[in-house]
Parts: sequence; C-alpha cells; structure tokens
Amino acid sequence: MYANEALKVPKAIIIGASSGMGREVTKRLSEQGYTLGLVARRLPLLESLQKEIPGESFIKPVDVTLPQAREQLQDLIVAMGGLDLIVISISSYLDNRNATANSAADYHPARTWEEKQRYLMVDAIGFIAMADVAIEFFKKQNHGHLVGISSTSGLRGRAYNPEYCAAKACISTYMEGVRNEMLQKNIDVQITDVVPGFVAVEHSPLGEDPTAYWEIPVDQAGEVILQGILNQEKVVYVPRKIWLVAALLKVLPDSIFNNKFSWL
Ligand SMILES: NC(=O)c1ccc[n+]([C@@H]2O[C@H](COP(=O)([O-])OP(=O)(O)OC[C@H]3O[C@@H](n4cnc5c(N)ncnc54)[C@H](OP(=O)(O)O)[C@@H]3O)[C@@H](O)[C@H]2O)c1
Repeated sequence: MYANEALKVPKAIIIGASSGMGREVTKRLSEQGYTLGLVARRLPLLESLQKEIPGESFIKPVDVTLPQAREQLQDLIVAMGGLDLIVISISSYLDNRNATANSAADYHPARTWEEKQRYLMVDAIGFIAMADVAIEFFKKQNHGHLVGISSTSGLRGRAYNPEYCAAKACISTYMEGVRNEMLQKNIDVQITDVVPGFVAVEHSPLGEDPTAYWEIPVDQAGEVILQGILNQEKVVYVPRKIWLVAALLKVLPDSIFNNKFSWL
C-alpha cells in the first residue's frame, strides 16, 4: 500500500475516537505505527487517549453536525501533513439514551422527533460529511482507505428504532456507492464497511442488555476491526460469526421475521 514510500509513517484519522470501538481501533493503529488524528466532541477523553497511545497524535474537537466540521477536518489533514486512512465510528446512541426520560434499562424507548432526527443528523449526514472530505482528498492522491462503522441494524428495518436502522442502511449504501465509483474509475481507494452486532462499550457494559446476543467486549471488537483494516476487507462482521445473522436478516420473509425473528 505504501510501497513507493517505504519510510513514510502512515497517517490515520479516527472520527469518534473518544469512546467505544473508535477508541479501541485508535489504540491498535497507534501500536501499528500510525500517526493519528483523534476527533470527537469530548476533549478530556481525547486528551486521556492521547496520553495512553505511544506514537505521535493530533487532537481536534469536532461536532460532525456543525457547518464548520468539514473545514475542521480539512485543517486537521493539513496539520498532519496528509492522510492514508480514515475510520468513522460515530453514533448519537449515547446522546439519545441520555436524553430519554425512560430508565437506562429501557432499551427500546419511544423517541421524540428531536432524538429521531439526531440519529439521521449524526449517524448518516455527519458520517457522509466527514467521509466526503476524506474521499475527495484520497481521489486527488489516488490512494487511501475509508473505514465506516455501520451495524446489522442497517440490514433490516427494526420496529423499535427505524431511524437508527435507516441511518445505518444509508451509510452502508453510501460506502457501496463510493466503492463502485472507485472501481469504475480505477482509483486506488479502498472502502471497508464494518458491521457490528452487539459490542459492550463504556455506556453498555457486557451482559447489561439482556437483548444483546453474541455480545463481545470492545477490545475483541477492536482486534477484529484492525484485522479487517489491515487486510483491506470489503465488509467486516463483528463478531465474525454475525455474518449468519446478516444473511438471515437479508432473506427472511416479512411474515417469519415479524413473528419469530424480530429480536435479531
Ligand atoms: N456498541 C454496539 O453494540 C454497536 C453495534 C452496532 C453498531 N455500532 C456502531 O459502532 C459505532 C461506534 O459506537 P460504539 O458503540 O463503539 O461507541 P460509542 O461510545 O457510542 O461511540 C460513539 C462515538 O461517536 C462520537 N460522536 C457522537 N456524536 C458526535 C458528534 N455530533 N460529533 C462528533 N462525534 C460524535 C462520540 O464522541 P463524543 O461524544 O466525544 O463526541 C463517540 O466517540 C457507531 O457507529 C455505532 O452505531 C455499535
């Protein structure tokens, strides 16, 4: 990948580096020798991460829903002296969970329009706003790798959170379209869609959610994602075996899905 620049240190930006899978992947990329750009809103968490990781890193507090977010990302790319890889791992799941009037144990609360809209603004539009900046940069240099974290929720509309499902389906379809553009125009830019099932993170500890089958700890998820990045895989299921659920979600007839498998 960096054959003609053997001595160059690869550069990666992680949007959503402050917590969850984004934070895990950041630590692993640092171990791999990447210079890193750490992006999210919670500055103290980015600062604590910067202290944890061995290599060089830059911090940029960004809210992806704000108009200045794209320019802030462009500025970070310039400050880092280029970009080889971007990982986008963002969701308003936690903001919505904090906003809801229901107890934390209510996993399928009724959402206000503000909360529903937030899913679309962060998980879909915010994602594409960031990806588009990176893709335009990668196209110019004919090299780069976009990694986006979607979800099995994007594979079938779920009765209890259709807006989240819609946002995740949106970014998976977006990544597929960008990949097809790169293939058709023969541009050397790779696209990896990471599709997790259930991953225990800071705001959702292992075993807390009784509906979370095949749940894995975030460090395991980070390892699977890192391997998917290094192998430039098209789609990375997390855990790997969740491909089976993905296949079922895609083919089950509505009658069987709604009567027997709506928990998938
Ligand atoms: N955990 C699971 O079971 C699971 C399953 C399927 C898919 N996923 C997906 O995995 C990805 C990562 O989520 P996670 O569960 O690993 O951890 P998480 O802790 O929920 O991570 C979400 C990240 O998004 C960032 N973020 C949220 N709103 C933002 C905004 N407006 N601007 C900039 N950054 C923003 C947060 O940082 P700040 O709050 O600091 O801004 C945080 O770093 C998400 O796309 C999620 O939908 C998770």
